[in-house]
Amino acid sequence: MFFANSGTEANEAGFKLTRLTGRKRIIAMAGSFHGRTLGALALTSKLAYRQPFEPLPGDVIFVPYGNVAALAAVLDETVAAVIVEPVQGENGVVPAPPGFLADVRALTAKAGALMWVDEVQTGIGRCGEWFVSVADGVTPDIVTVAKGLGNGFPIGACLALGPAAGLFTPGSHGSTFGGNPVGAAVGLAVLQTIEQEDLLVRSRELGDYLTQTVTALDNPGIAEVRGRGLLRGIVLAQPIAAAVNDALLDKGWIVNAPHDDVLRIAPPLVVTEEDLDAFAKALDSVLNQLGSGA
Ligand SMILES: Cc1ncc(COP(=O)(O)O)c(C=O)c1O
Repeated sequence: MFFANSGTEANEAGFKLTRLTGRKRIIAMAGSFHGRTLGALALTSKLAYRQPFEPLPGDVIFVPYGNVAALAAVLDETVAAVIVEPVQGENGVVPAPPGFLADVRALTAKAGALMWVDEVQTGIGRCGEWFVSVADGVTPDIVTVAKGLGNGFPIGACLALGPAAGLFTPGSHGSTFGGNPVGAAVGLAVLQTIEQEDLLVRSRELGDYLTQTVTALDNPGIAEVRGRGLLRGIVLAQPIAAAVNDALLDKGWIVNAPHDDVLRIAPPLVVTEEDLDAFAKALDSVLNQLGSGA
């Protein structure tokens, strides 16, 4: 485990780790987001984020998210690692198709490449599991976490398992504040609180409740609700997510619009049914006001 201070730094550590395999190529997914430092940006597909800062470190290639055949076609013995998010949060809360992570595991094992799962957004309770990949029966070689681990405090971590754990040796990588006592104490307190208050279960239950409540509005402005645990994407029937986001903020609701037609909802794991009822009501009224609803 290498401790860092953010998700992007956790991913920088992962990137450096892959170089020590002796192979250079990394396969990432279209629609990916892995952070804003140069290494993490090289793994991030969105052109608007990448282009102003090119050249980025690489050899990184992108394949369509969830497409096993496309991955298999480029995954050979030159590939050091495949990096994948269990749910693409920044891409509008797009979950991997069922079985995709297991397929990535099988293909990487066959090619002798590392499987790297970025759980910076999905891990530590957000999606109702410590690690979505592990909950889905997959043991990756590298897992990166951050956001939920600090619950607001800056901390990130790059975990390596099995032979990958031997790639970094003392001096390979470092960070003055990485693993600092305050961050470590916060991380431990967060893990204990999640465990003691049964927040993984709560994340799953409340996430399902959110989907049910928003779906039950039967508002024609809403096309779909998708996601896992308390990471949900509300897909709108029209590309008005930015306006809906602003109107909700005026009413005191912090959401986010990762796409023209998608709202991302990631409430605290201690959110209540009453909070979600009130949110659904506010969403209904905003959509109706903006002329996209009933
Ligand atoms: C999947 C994923 N990886 C990495 C990052 C970057 O984390 P940070 O903002 O802590 O650098 C994010 C942030 O949104 C993310 O969603």
